[in-house]
Amino acid sequence: MVQFTLPKNSKVRIGKTWPKPEGAKRLRTFRIYRWDPDTGENPRLDTYFVDLDDCGPMILDGLIWIKNNIDPSLTFRRSCREGICGSCAMNIGGINTLACIHGMDEVKGDIRIYPLPHMPVVKDLVPDLTHFYAQHASVRPWLETETPAPEREWRQSIEDRKKLDGLYECVMCASCSTACPSYWWNGDRYLGPAALLHAYRWIIDSRDEATGERLDDLEDPFKLYRCHTIMNCTKTCPKGLNPAKAIAEIKKLMLERQL
Ligand code: SF4
Ligand code: FES
Repeated sequence: MVQFTLPKNSKVRIGKTWPKPEGAKRLRTFRIYRWDPDTGENPRLDTYFVDLDDCGPMILDGLIWIKNNIDPSLTFRRSCREGICGSCAMNIGGINTLACIHGMDEVKGDIRIYPLPHMPVVKDLVPDLTHFYAQHASVRPWLETETPAPEREWRQSIEDRKKLDGLYECVMCASCSTACPSYWWNGDRYLGPAALLHAYRWIIDSRDEATGERLDDLEDPFKLYRCHTIMNCTKTCPKGLNPAKAIAEIKKLMLERQL
């Protein structure tokens, strides 16, 4: 058996290897990041063996199987198990994605799972998203109007509605922002791809009447312009969205209004 090692100088240590399930014929190895705030010890990677004949095909199925059958202390977020709630985002085999729609067969070899990168960890695979959500709220992700509300509804042409496609589907999983080096280094002031995608979704909404203020708010050396078009956001988005394009469109609008 190949000896499992960690990179030199890693603060993560090799943790416990849990026993293989008895009688299992088809096994998959999971190496999972564990950190417990109650002990405060350095994080560790625990090794688990999942019985594939008793478990669903997705990474989330494996995690739930481990929690139910081996180690109830393993902590992770999940809810919908169909890529809608965005809560099961984590780093799987080096990629930020949603555990519930990522198949075990998409990962070669041992399945290594870490929390989303560069975020404070609450416990094990649960990142603290407080700041991420505050940034989302800061772009005022709701309709703002001055015109008195119509009797029935705010109407929109089919063409204008189409402009929201590829934006409204975002599930706020944070995979994109936590894959972005600019966000890693300047996440306190750079809004990051997810919040900017939402900002753009409201900027181009034909019913919104606060476009000017929204652009004014983003006219800042950090909030918007720390995006250096690295494209990790678009590459990793598990919903197939393109936050980098949304950011580029905002930059274009900024330029156009200066002409
Ligand atoms: S744009 Fe994609 S990766 Fe980013 S938060 Fe939305 S769904 Fe997640
Ligand atoms: S559990 Fe809801 S997106 Fe994965």
